[in-house]
Amino acid sequence: MRLLITTAILTSFAGISAASDLPNPILPSDFPTLDTEIVSIGRQLFYDPVLSGNDNIACATCHHPALGTGDAMSLSIGEGGLGLGRMREVDNGNEIKDRIPRNAPALFNLGAREFSVMFHDGRVMRDRDAMYGIKMPEGRTLERPRNTALAAQNILPILIHDEMAGHPGENPIADAIEAEEIHGPNGAWQQITAKVEAIEEYRMAFDWIIGQGTPLHITDIGDALSQFITYEFRATDSPFDQYLNGKADALRADQMAGMELFYGKGNCASCHSGKFQTDHGFHAIGLPQFGPGKDDAYADTGRGMISGLDEDKYRFRTPSLRNVTLSAPYGHNGAYTDLEAMVRHHLIPSRGLAIMIAVKLRCMRSVKPPRIGSRWTIWPKCCASPWPQRLSRLI
Ligand code: HEC
Ligand code: HEC
Repeated sequence: MRLLITTAILTSFAGISAASDLPNPILPSDFPTLDTEIVSIGRQLFYDPVLSGNDNIACATCHHPALGTGDAMSLSIGEGGLGLGRMREVDNGNEIKDRIPRNAPALFNLGAREFSVMFHDGRVMRDRDAMYGIKMPEGRTLERPRNTALAAQNILPILIHDEMAGHPGENPIADAIEAEEIHGPNGAWQQITAKVEAIEEYRMAFDWIIGQGTPLHITDIGDALSQFITYEFRATDSPFDQYLNGKADALRADQMAGMELFYGKGNCASCHSGKFQTDHGFHAIGLPQFGPGKDDAYADTGRGMISGLDEDKYRFRTPSLRNVTLSAPYGHNGAYTDLEAMVRHHLIPSRGLAIMIAVKLRCMRSVKPPRIGSRWTIWPKCCASPWPQRLSRLI
């Protein structure tokens, strides 16, 4: 009997192992070579609130290894909050202006060479026509060439008021950003660099890299952070990787069945393609709006805001799915807290939207805000926060 079942399973999977359907295994050469000295400076900086305007938040606050390199929240609480992950609360007396309008994505494998598009809307990406070969958001042009989109991205969170910089009147960096003084000797980037350089341990460590007496530049900080992220958050040893490398029994039967769907009937690999399950492209899959949004009026048109093209409206970058079980909630706004609900949404996007509208209507009718923890109450309208947990349950 057992033999029969095994034979049946093997027969039913016979089709999928066709090498043409599956990606090639990841190779060491898919990643750049790193400098261990730079990686170790990057590690210090990644966990150090010195990069924030009010010395109260680090990169790791929103990209914590214990939280799947995210923050386990749909929408992050940035500068001014206290604590980590779901325990993170608004600090009494330090009023946070707003939630970060998007979900903090996982940082796995972003250092691999093929990752040339950063952010949910791709506002940083490699582009031959852009200054120094990397397209940056307006007013944030690079001051020096950089090799990777990741290193260019890494010098941007420090310029966002709600994320790391703090608000005008609170510190000189936030004031410079408010005045759009980013570049040059008095600009925000240089002020942050000066703070880092003033710490003797950092200056001595950077001496090894850039040479004694060479002034530190913000791109040196970006490089260090990106080398650390590349080194530390590499995820290339899953059972799936072992399977691709020829270990036939690396995956359980149910995992094999999932793989068959993913690369077969499910058509997932038409967007989640290649070694890292992403085409690095933009698609509209109709995630329900959740939270304050990046546009006005609680909306987020994603790629459309960057390109200005109508056809790009509501498109978001296909995320890599490496370690995806660790990095809930899902989607650009964390609308789904549950992985199965996120996958089901792909199958019938209209259902997710219908439920979202129903929840919004109910919310608008109710006098009291919905029962949600204190960390949600900073949202200006209850109808902007249609409970992601509930949505996941319903779908
Ligand atoms: C307050 C929370 C917060 C902090 C602090 C923060 N980030 Fe992020 N990070 C986010 C969010 C939210 C996004 C997505 C923004 C978007 O796509 O519009 C993001 C995006 C990114 C991305 C792009 C990931 C991808 O898949 O495209 C990288 C890389 C990154 N952050 C690195 C950093 C580094 C390095 C620091 C410290 C200098 C940092 N972050 C600080 C919340 C945070
Ligand atoms: C048309 C392209 C496309 C197809 C086909 C597709 N996806 Fe996606 N997927 C996306 C995009 C785009 C996002 C991000 C959407 C957003 O953030 O608004 C996404 C997000 C996800 C996420 C959330 C990841 C995260 O970190 O937030 C998961 C999980 C996922 N897809 C799994 C699947 C599975 C499983 C299939 C097959 C059943 C599939 N996708 C088919 C484009 C696609």
